[in-house]
Amino acid sequence: MKAAVLHGINEAYQFQDFEKPVIAADEVLIKVQHAAMNHRDVWIQKGQYAGLKFPIICGSDACGMVEEVGANVTQDLLGVEVIINPSMNWGNNPRTQSKDYVILGLPHHGTFAEYVKIPARLVFAKPAHLKSEEAAALPLAGLTAFRALIGRAKAKAGEKVLITGIGGGVALMAAQFAQLAGCEVYVTSGNEEKLNLAKAIGLKGGANYKTVDWHKALAKEVGGFDVIIDGAGGSDFAKLIDLCNAGGRIAVYGATAGIWNAGAPAKVFWKQIDILGSTMGTDEQFEEMLAFVSQHKMRPIVANIFPLQQCEEAAKFMSEGKQFGKIVLEMNQKLN
Ligand SMILES: NC(=O)c1ccc[n+]([C@@H]2O[C@H](COP(=O)([O-])OP(=O)(O)OC[C@H]3O[C@@H](n4cnc5c(N)ncnc54)[C@H](OP(=O)(O)O)[C@@H]3O)[C@@H](O)[C@H]2O)c1
Repeated sequence: MKAAVLHGINEAYQFQDFEKPVIAADEVLIKVQHAAMNHRDVWIQKGQYAGLKFPIICGSDACGMVEEVGANVTQDLLGVEVIINPSMNWGNNPRTQSKDYVILGLPHHGTFAEYVKIPARLVFAKPAHLKSEEAAALPLAGLTAFRALIGRAKAKAGEKVLITGIGGGVALMAAQFAQLAGCEVYVTSGNEEKLNLAKAIGLKGGANYKTVDWHKALAKEVGGFDVIIDGAGGSDFAKLIDLCNAGGRIAVYGATAGIWNAGAPAKVFWKQIDILGSTMGTDEQFEEMLAFVSQHKMRPIVANIFPLQQCEEAAKFMSEGKQFGKIVLEMNQKLN
């Protein structure tokens, strides 16, 4: 089969022939139609991810057709258009993942290929209202956003929510979920055009984190926030604590901008702020997220679609932060 393969740190994604996966009794083989890229696939390429191994086919998200089922799997799945829950072996504790927890696409080969194999229990029918590329965009970012916003921060209708770095795949998904949950949603971005796009999809407003004292301008406009969803970290984290209302919650799922400079602890304890770490989610949360998406007919926003041959260009596009939403790879163009 054809695949986009990483052979080492800081090497380009190589479009090449690769061994087709052989399924076990409890697995299915999926012919991938679309796969989506996550920042994880860029961190792995840059060597900034735990448990690296090469060669590796990255990619955690896909929408495709079940082409083969293992001996212990129902034949009813054959020919069904499905998406994958890439959150593997969470375990029994809803608070935290087990020591066997892994995400599809490292250490197991992932979805940047014509075929991927996966345990049948992690496969779900594509939500009927979504196109294949939208469905492919959903799993990893959707689960991360849903657990952070609903599972951890427990955002409620009427609350003021701030989502940082709205161009990002998880951030935009979190903003859409918050909007559908009845929250008042504000965002930050380093790009004025993306702030305008956020307003165009009905979000309330926001601030450019590249401007001086952006948080003061936002505080003046909005007051404070009940919930903040942050995937950036970095030196601006102290500003998020300033912007958080008393009794508010800050859910943290990423560190795109690096380590915290969190400022005065007194602001956290005097305002009784909860700082909540969040990673992916449980099997139940994946199903809750899918139900929410189907109930609200929510459509993930796809920024760009690249053919699999251009996986390296897609990774550069993400690395440069050019996207507004998810970057998707398409397989069904002629692969030669
Ligand atoms: N814990 C988990 O389970 C989990 C799951 C998924 C992702 N993550 C992590 O979450 C982060 C986002 O992932 P993703 O796949 O959504 O990435 P992505 O699509 O590449 O989005 C990254 C976004 O970060 C924003 N950004 C960059 N510098 C920023 C800053 N200084 N302040 C605020 N925002 C900034 C940019 O937004 P603008 O373009 O709008 O400026 C950019 O679009 C990554 O670090 C990733 O590793 C963690």
